[in-house]
This record gives sequence, structure tokens and C-alpha cells, in this order.
Amino acid sequence: MTNKYMIFVANWKMFGGLNSLNSLRKVVKFLKNFKKNNLIKIVYCPPNTLIRPMTKKLRKSKIEVGAQNCHENNDYGAFTGSVNSKMLKSVGAKYVIIGHSENRQAGEKDKLINIKIKSALKSGLKVIFCIGETIQQKRKKITKQILNKQIQIGLNKIANKKKILIAYEPVWSIGTGLIPQSKELFNTIDFIKKKIGNLKVLYGGSVNPKNVTELKSIDNIDGFLVGGASQDAKKFIDIIKKTYN
Ligand code: PGA
Repeated sequence: MTNKYMIFVANWKMFGGLNSLNSLRKVVKFLKNFKKNNLIKIVYCPPNTLIRPMTKKLRKSKIEVGAQNCHENNDYGAFTGSVNSKMLKSVGAKYVIIGHSENRQAGEKDKLINIKIKSALKSGLKVIFCIGETIQQKRKKITKQILNKQIQIGLNKIANKKKILIAYEPVWSIGTGLIPQSKELFNTIDFIKKKIGNLKVLYGGSVNPKNVTELKSIDNIDGFLVGGASQDAKKFIDIIKKTYN
């Protein structure tokens, strides 16, 4: 049975309209009545368009809201289509996911991620910093080397890391239904924790109500970053319940 403080982050990706906010009612009710709710932190990261209405819906709940990315520039500027961390903060975001593999695949490099993290921290946001290896890197057995590089550059010259959470998300595991073997995952998280001191490390990649029973037994995991399954309130609630079963 898990009796540990755990963080559950819902990453809605590019899904959801105003109607999707109705499903939050179930999660709010669940959290209110859940016996171990003092052990849980829930953070919803919807598309930017839903941040404001979502924070309003969650006003009376302990659930917090975050964004999925931000522009690296801390100030306003001529960057069509972009939103910076200061703007996210102003509409109620408390967190921002940075370095998600879907953005790395679209060309986001470690150095840019480092600038984004600094900018987000400067704006007063907490950062969910994503790292993870691709299947090719895993096959070449260079996972640790890759993670080390992502951590070194991503967190370069950031003295105060208290507001940073790490999300270890193997790229080959995102949206595929595949998860690492327990022992392998324990060792990778252990490796990450040795590199970054006592930051919390979440696992992300195909977390669902079925595999969470196996995942929760890996006792160095501090929470989960849930993509697909988080868009379904029932599945997300099941993941949390099963973590504490
Ligand atoms: P998934 O996504 O749970 O759908 O694999 C996780 C993520 O991309 O953060």
C-alpha cells in the first residue's frame, strides 16, 4: 500500500474544449472524499485556451493548473502565436511542462529548454522538466548518457532547483502502451536522483489504470505524468485510487 506523497499530472496535450471541463467535477468530488487526499497533489495541464476557465472551475479545490509549454522570452514581444511564462502565470497557471518529447521532436533543443526553465522560474511558475531517451538511444544502450546531457544542459546555471520536478518519460513509451521493466525503471530513476539531488521524479509514458499497480511498486517514483488516460476522468481517478490500494 502506498502511503507516500505522490503527484499526479494530467497532460491533456492538444485535446479539449470548454465542454471537457465538465468532467473535472468528478475528479474534484473524488479528491474531496478520498481518505488519503492529504497525500496527493493533482495538477491539470490543459491547452492554454482552457487555463483560465479551468482555474475558475477549480477555485474551491486543491487541484492546481499548469501549462504544457511556454516561449523562452520572459518579456512581451513580437512572437506571433506564442505565449510566455509571465502570461501563463497571469491567467492562473502554477506549473509549466518544459522539454516534453513532442516538443523536442519538433526541434526544441536542450539549450532552449534551459532558457525556458529559467524564464518560467523567474515568472514564479513551478517547472515539470521532461527528459527521456528514444528507442534508438535505448537500443544503443546510451540512455544514461542522454539523460545526463538533458539534465546537465537543461538545468545549467540554475542554482535554486526547489521548484523543479523531473518527469522521466521514455519517448518510446509515450502513447504506445509500452512501459519499462520495473527493475530498469527503478535503476533509471535512481540514476536521475543521484544526478539531481533530492528533486522529485515522476514517471510518464502510457500510465493507465492497468499498469499503475506495477508502476506504484517502484518505490523511488514520486508521481505520474499521465497523457491519454488523463482525458478520461474515470481513468485518471482509477490511476490515483490504484496507486493507494
Ligand atoms: P501518455 O502520454 O500517457 O499518453 O503516454 C504521456 C505524456 O506525453 O506526457
